[in-house]
Amino acid sequence: MALLKIRHYPDPVLKKVAVPVTEFDETLRQLAHDMAETMYAAPGVGLAAPQVGISKRLTVIDCSVRDEEAQLLILVNPEIIHREGESCEEEGCLSVPEYYAKVDRSAKVRVRFQDLDGQPHVIEAEGLTSVACQHEIDHLDGILFVDHLSPLKRSIFRKKWKKIEEHRTEQM
Ligand code: NI
Repeated sequence: MALLKIRHYPDPVLKKVAVPVTEFDETLRQLAHDMAETMYAAPGVGLAAPQVGISKRLTVIDCSVRDEEAQLLILVNPEIIHREGESCEEEGCLSVPEYYAKVDRSAKVRVRFQDLDGQPHVIEAEGLTSVACQHEIDHLDGILFVDHLSPLKRSIFRKKWKKIEEHRTEQM
């Protein structure tokens, strides 16, 4: 097990569309477990492979902090096949630390994915897990939560982000 380095906005890997996973081997298993360890250590409720510099369609999610029923989800090649209702919750992202904003999402989603052995599954997600699925699958398409903000809010984000980065550089 190892902690992986989390890439921050505006790292170009975060803008790339990730490629489907085709090899369900030990390398994939190791990557998924390292990503889970990195997510728990951060701490965060979701992490997608592009966030650790690997442009593959793999994400880990664990929303048990908010939802006791939740457990670790490892989603390979996930795809949203059904959406229902509306939700607008405050989101953050390990690649955009210290910045939070409300994002319009679907309230419930049905997600088709493969497990680490390549077996297909379908899950129904609601609440924080639904938001996390949408947020993480966006990462696989090169989309960050700040990309969903209105032009005005995005310009406010860019100004705030500059300050956050300057502050971080001063601390180093
Ligand atoms: Ni994120």
